[in-house]
Amino acid sequence: MMVLGVLVASWCARGLAFAPAAPAASARGAPLAAQVRKVGIVGGGTVGGGIVEILERRREQLVAATGGVGLEVKAVVVRDAAKARDWTAPPGCVVTEDLEAVLGGDRRGSYGPVDFVRSGGDRFAHTGDDDVDLVVEVMGGTTLAKDVVFRALRAGKDVVTANKALIADCLPEIEAVVAEANAAQGAGAPRVQFGYEAAVCGGIPIIHTMNTDFVGDEVTRLRGIMNGCTNFMLTKMEAEGLSYADCLAEATALGYAEEDPTLDVGGFDARSKLAILVRLAFGVDVDETLISCTGIAGLETIDFEYARGQLDGTIKLLGVAELDGAGGLTAYVTPALVPRGATLASISDATNAVEVASRNLEASLFVGRGAGRFPTANSCVSDVVACARGALPEPFAKKVGGVAFRSDFESFFYIRIRYRNAIGIVKALGEICARHDVSIDSLLQKPHSDYFVVVTEAGPRSRVEKVAADVEAEAWCVGDVFFMPVATQE
Ligand SMILES: NC(=O)c1ccc[n+]([C@@H]2O[C@H](COP(=O)([O-])OP(=O)(O)OC[C@H]3O[C@@H](n4cnc5c(N)ncnc54)[C@H](OP(=O)(O)O)[C@@H]3O)[C@@H](O)[C@H]2O)c1
Repeated sequence: MMVLGVLVASWCARGLAFAPAAPAASARGAPLAAQVRKVGIVGGGTVGGGIVEILERRREQLVAATGGVGLEVKAVVVRDAAKARDWTAPPGCVVTEDLEAVLGGDRRGSYGPVDFVRSGGDRFAHTGDDDVDLVVEVMGGTTLAKDVVFRALRAGKDVVTANKALIADCLPEIEAVVAEANAAQGAGAPRVQFGYEAAVCGGIPIIHTMNTDFVGDEVTRLRGIMNGCTNFMLTKMEAEGLSYADCLAEATALGYAEEDPTLDVGGFDARSKLAILVRLAFGVDVDETLISCTGIAGLETIDFEYARGQLDGTIKLLGVAELDGAGGLTAYVTPALVPRGATLASISDATNAVEVASRNLEASLFVGRGAGRFPTANSCVSDVVACARGALPEPFAKKVGGVAFRSDFESFFYIRIRYRNAIGIVKALGEICARHDVSIDSLLQKPHSDYFVVVTEAGPRSRVEKVAADVEAEAWCVGDVFFMPVATQE
């Protein structure tokens, strides 16, 4: 333990140019690290607990993976430090309610010449030997979490987060703070790094891939199943014919739903992820509230019967972003009728998948666990390791201007209408569709059913929305009209 303590103290100055390692093994059996990064975790719940566990379980391998940098968890900040935990704090780690245990100290002061001066004129405090220099934010939310992330970055600490809501909400601000933090670094000091691999599709390494493997490529379309809870529910609704309410109850019991399930079922969680991917894939910042978003609450078991029976497909909640060929970009989240032969139709349960169409790579598919303790913690640990190696890629590598964003999009549409018997329904429907320039491809009805389905030719969503509103105003229409796009096979 003493030897390790000496080595911890030797972490100093100039990024990765640390003091050399001495003996071959620590008192805890792990290979001795030549340098040590002091990790502070804000949040000790599902993801935070998983990170602590992986860092401890893979201690030796991670020293090798970082090229000799030890990862010491110094503090885990929680709301209630007295609460029983399903993970064990490693030796030397405090579990505390005090954010200063993680945010205290200023890493910039530990590089190069002693005197760094803030724009306000005050001097940086030096990082003490025990001060955290790598902050992992896994508490969630967009208020206190934002303060934690920004304060850590401004203190020159590397930051890793799993917080998609925060990033989608303030991506340009985060980008500016990272740039500001780096500009404030002294000459020779390492880059302040920001990692958020876990924020989109949990365990799928899509952020890193977008920021590295697609930088020389031109993405034309990206679509995917980005929310595990709703995919689990839709899989159940299809396979077991269960109602929406029963499936939501089961997803919640299994821990697939967010604390507030409207984020999942309303499509907002998928929308946050899509907004982040839009920036990475197309280089465009989009205010996520402008992305058209429809959740799955309007779906009924009858929709799965039509999808499976007459339309040879299934229903998935998709996030889609695509270039329109005329310099424009559209993005939307919606349930969609997916043809049985499409790859996304086979993605079931809580699994996530992202399909990317691009000029060089043509078609790429990324599939994996979208959430859960260890898949998500694994992505955070990958970021922590990359940070320790000084190798996290630029967080928002691609940026382009001049792309017009529009929330409307074109597709074939499925429209489901519940009706009461009346004369002239088809004539009235035809007139409404003609009024809004929507062309009907087919009309479907199961025998003895109160419902019928219209499949349209390709056209803008905005027109179908008007058709739905006019149909709802008809005396023969019962309840709300439900509509969704029909996805293409490829
Ligand atoms: N769970 C997943 O599968 C998953 C997947 C991808 C991304 N994420 C993201 O990861 C983040 C964490 O999710 P989670 O599922 O781990 O959440 P969680 O289980 O609810 O854990 C949140 C942790 O943060 C702590 N915390 C909350 N408010 C705090 C405050 N004001 N001060 C100090 N500590 C506070 C809580 O302390 P107490 O324990 O004392 O209450 C808890 O330990 C979120 O941004 C989420 O969107 C999660």
